[in-house]
Amino acid sequence: MKKIVSIVGARPQFIKAAAFSRVVRRKFGEVLVHTGQHYDRNMSARFFSELGIPAPDYQLGIGSGTHAEQTGRMLGAVERVLLREKPAGVVIFGDTNSTVAAALAAVKLKIPVAHIEAGLRSFNRDMPEEHNRVVSDHLSDLLFVPSRQGMANLKREGLGARAYLVGDIMYDSLLGFARIARERSRIIGRLGLKKDGYYLATVHRPSNTDDKKVLKAVLSSLSGLDLPVVFPVHPRTRERIKRFGLAGLLKGIVLTEPAGYLDIIRLMMDSRKVITDSGGLQKEAFYLRKQCVVLRSESEWIELVSSGWAVLTGSDPGRIRRAVLSTRKPRLNSHPYGRGKAADRIVRILASHW
Ligand code: UD1
Repeated sequence: MKKIVSIVGARPQFIKAAAFSRVVRRKFGEVLVHTGQHYDRNMSARFFSELGIPAPDYQLGIGSGTHAEQTGRMLGAVERVLLREKPAGVVIFGDTNSTVAAALAAVKLKIPVAHIEAGLRSFNRDMPEEHNRVVSDHLSDLLFVPSRQGMANLKREGLGARAYLVGDIMYDSLLGFARIARERSRIIGRLGLKKDGYYLATVHRPSNTDDKKVLKAVLSSLSGLDLPVVFPVHPRTRERIKRFGLAGLLKGIVLTEPAGYLDIIRLMMDSRKVITDSGGLQKEAFYLRKQCVVLRSESEWIELVSSGWAVLTGSDPGRIRRAVLSTRKPRLNSHPYGRGKAADRIVRILASHW
């Protein structure tokens, strides 16, 4: 069996790796590397145990830092792993600092790179994820793309010949775990929630958390809605709320630790709507047929915006409130991101190249 190295580091990558590892291990020997970008139990270890992801073969323990520090430390550490393992290829996921560091380390050693969730663009150059996407796509040899829009983006950048439309691998995971979430998650009872009786909110993007005025606007729009808001707090956001002294704005908001995958799926299932700046949650909400209020002014998942499943509000409290309270129904019940078979397709294509 040929050897590949898959590299993960942050929460959304664990969810993608769960679907990928299960399938890729039928055809390849997989060496799994965890950069340590996310390290709290609730942000990392919990996902490996709940999703049955094989234990990483390497834990690089990089941790937090500025973008340059974090990415730089990863580069050296990933290179050492690749020199030792000499894989036939490297697989990277999504748009984090772990993604771009792994791509750069591999390409310099002339090891082919495959990027899962390639082609996404927000066209917002202020987002660290946008830098990571553009660079990772251009460094990669095989681009696995979740949407037609992603294919068009890559074509425009001259990368069409390396791109394959495979659908969204997060849908594979969701389909695999939705029933288990319904059976096993106890979060609804534990928080005393009623079906359709609350909103689920998550906030972690630097654009919403790093500026006091913006974070204040977002948090104040979550209190005083017609239903309670359940708010699992990302460590970045928790730290900023404390630093900016905004805890007083959280009245009427049910704060929780970052939720595990099964709990967040369960929370979405019973919610009235989802309010988020996450990319992953926008799609998961759609797969569960929940409308999503997106606390950003653009989305990589434009199909959801044009069909009304996602409503862009930025951080403006008036717009957020109106979107949350609106009763307008979305259109479209199609499958813009495939039918949850992305991992099979990706592995078939990998096997024919590597
Ligand atoms: C990262 C990704 C983003 C992804 C998100 C999912 C980048 C540039 N961004 O953002 O694309 O959507 O993950 O969550 O790679 N922290 C902890 N414990 C942890 C992890 C982080 O306390 O387990 C703290 C760090 O100290 C840091 C902050 O959270 O101050 C942000 O972590 P970082 O890894 O820089 O990026 P995220 O905001 O999580």
